Amino acid sequence: MEQKTIKKIGVLTSGGDAPGMNAAIRAVVRTALYHDVSVIGIRKGYNGLINGEIKEMYSKDVSNVMNLGGTILHTARCPEMMTEEGQNKAAAIYKILGLDALVVIGGDGSYRGMAELAKRGVNCIGIPATIDLDMNNTEYTIGFDTAVNTGMDALNKLRDTSSSHERCSVVEVMGRDAGYIAIWCGMVGGAEDVMFPEEKGEVDSAKVIQQILENRSIGKRHNLIVVAEGVGGTQKLAKEIQEITGIQTRATILGHLQRGGSPTAVDRMHASMMGYHAVKAILAGDQNKVVAYNRGRYEILDLEKALKMEKTLDREVYEVIKILAI
Ligand code: ADP
Ligand code: F6P
Repeated sequence: MEQKTIKKIGVLTSGGDAPGMNAAIRAVVRTALYHDVSVIGIRKGYNGLINGEIKEMYSKDVSNVMNLGGTILHTARCPEMMTEEGQNKAAAIYKILGLDALVVIGGDGSYRGMAELAKRGVNCIGIPATIDLDMNNTEYTIGFDTAVNTGMDALNKLRDTSSSHERCSVVEVMGRDAGYIAIWCGMVGGAEDVMFPEEKGEVDSAKVIQQILENRSIGKRHNLIVVAEGVGGTQKLAKEIQEITGIQTRATILGHLQRGGSPTAVDRMHASMMGYHAVKAILAGDQNKVVAYNRGRYEILDLEKALKMEKTLDREVYEVIKILAI
């Protein structure tokens, strides 16, 4: 079959924003322009596709964005895209715009939206971006490193005050369904314990409290406990710890703080390379693929296969956190 010449592609960011999305947009735009392919920027994720909120992008449109958090294209959760009507509309607009491919920068949900569009004749290429790292087909997702560094910075500061007052700090980090941010923050922040959603059946405040009591008996004067958002009950846990142990305890919820900020070098590097690989895949004639980073290399995987892959949180890191917290 003769390969179609690629003349025009679209790009959008979807779902929760992640630091590094701008670096990915920049790489997509500039790699495409370098190959004489024009780029249509679509605003506010699938919403902008459905409503035709678009703008042609030139090289200068992505000047000075590498260092910015958030996304210059804006993003959204788009309930209309969950309906057949919305999906048909989005595919129709893609065709009206004369696009040869659509680059979607987002998380798992955005990839499921891509799968619906693919059924309707849209050629989609995904770039993984979510602070949660909860995508099964890739070992890295854009935004994770910045979010963890924000968490580490917060833990450093909380360590100062909780050690001065000999208190316990319970710190809630983001991660609705996944504990990657919590586990990493726990390790690099030197936490005494971490609670994460994958442990749902076993999440046990009594175990954490027992640990804090043991820590006191061996002379530890303060404790940092990291809780993933998906576990919930952060305030309640802090209250319980204080009531049972008598140790003054404060809860801090980092929340959306972890979604913002200038991307780290790691995020800028992956975003730039993934944006480049996405466009190269389109130019090579790839249809409905995703960019992934595995075993130290960038890969192009089938969208359908990527959505079926599974990954489990590596418990070894948690076990090491517990050993290093003695
Ligand atoms: P993320 O991409 O970060 O995981 P969401 O899960 O919120 O974020 O998904 C982003 C958007 O992708 C949703 O608002 C919706 O428009 C679209 N989407 C998610 N799941 C589906 C689905 N099953 N079918 C079609 N579109 C979907
Ligand atoms: O998926 C990224 C994430 O930040 C999760 O960690 C969090 O649970 C969720 O998005 C919050 O979503 P929203 O910005 O819609 O409140």
